[in-house]
Amino acid sequence: MILVTGGAGYIGSHTVRTLQAGNEQVVVLDSLEFGHRSALLGAELIVGNIRDRALVTELCRSHKVTQVVHFAAYKAVGESMEQPDRYWLNNVAGTVDLVEGVLAAGVKQFVFSSSCSVNGTPAELPLTEKAPIAPESVYAETKAMVERILGWYGVTHGLRSVSLRYFNAAGASTDGVIGEDWGRAQNLVPLVMKATLGKRPPLEVFGTDYPTPDGTCIRDYIHVDDLAEAHCRALAYLTEGGATIALNVGTGVGTSVLEIIKATERISGRTVPYTVAPRRAGDPVASYADPTMSHKTLGWAATRTVDDIIGSAWQWHSTHPDGFPD
Ligand SMILES: NC(=O)c1ccc[n+]([C@@H]2O[C@H](COP(=O)([O-])OP(=O)(O)OC[C@H]3O[C@@H](n4cnc5c(N)ncnc54)[C@H](O)[C@@H]3O)[C@@H](O)[C@H]2O)c1
Repeated sequence: MILVTGGAGYIGSHTVRTLQAGNEQVVVLDSLEFGHRSALLGAELIVGNIRDRALVTELCRSHKVTQVVHFAAYKAVGESMEQPDRYWLNNVAGTVDLVEGVLAAGVKQFVFSSSCSVNGTPAELPLTEKAPIAPESVYAETKAMVERILGWYGVTHGLRSVSLRYFNAAGASTDGVIGEDWGRAQNLVPLVMKATLGKRPPLEVFGTDYPTPDGTCIRDYIHVDDLAEAHCRALAYLTEGGATIALNVGTGVGTSVLEIIKATERISGRTVPYTVAPRRAGDPVASYADPTMSHKTLGWAATRTVDDIIGSAWQWHSTHPDGFPD
């Protein structure tokens, strides 16, 4: 049985679905502060907080949990700089409480949602796991700290963990049944969708004078179902006795902001309204993964393209303009 924290959120709900499609037994722990019960399509949900150690231990015992996938966290970079206490408590202290809770029930295999932001502005591309850890926000620091804390739990308690450093998660399930709640979205793809569907003012493209082929920033967009599959592989790796490791989970392909806009126009048949704004402080010109280590360690590689991301996101948002019913 696999405990999925934050499983009612965006990446968590896609991972729950993928795990169940692979005949895994799953129980979700989510506070529903930001997640949606309906995103779980009937998977078992315990509404509660990862900070409640007693609840976590009791849940692991009653459900015979053997592995954990830990998504539950706050993720807004800007907010983390304005209200750092919430991020230290939920993301860092919350993970300590969760780990203590699962260890008390004898669970020692753990997959963690980390982020390529632990490396800050990349000095060399593509980004490998050897790049220095140099977070540039409180949010990114919480991810770097948790990676290190998990390493220490390996030393002190024999916990084995895989930290998956996601690049830019995007897209929706291929059948359009679940997708991203764009209510709080700050990422490019949902903002492009919102602008295209007239649900927000025109998109702002921050900087068209970067040293890239079309002048806009380049990122590594990874389909949420590819990410979900990486979690399944990480759990299998731990089952087979794999040691604690941090891995880059990206496609290795860089895509510019204007390329995302053009793909959206081609696939949706609509015009994406946008304006050009000055560069934003702290935006790296380019970031994309070297996913070689994930290939070697997990036997995993992304199989979906940017067109798959945009096609599925368009299908989801255009048919669910108000998101989930709850
Ligand atoms: N979306 C991305 O591009 C991206 C990139 C890198 C890393 N991540 C990380 O991946 C994870 C999932 O991201 P997401 O985009 O699915 O976010 P999300 O906000 O959609 O999902 C997070 C879920 O965790 C729940 N939650 C938060 N704090 C909780 C707590 N204390 N107890 C119980 N539940 C709690 C929320 O209700 C929500 O359902 C996060 O840890 C995030 O930092 C996301």
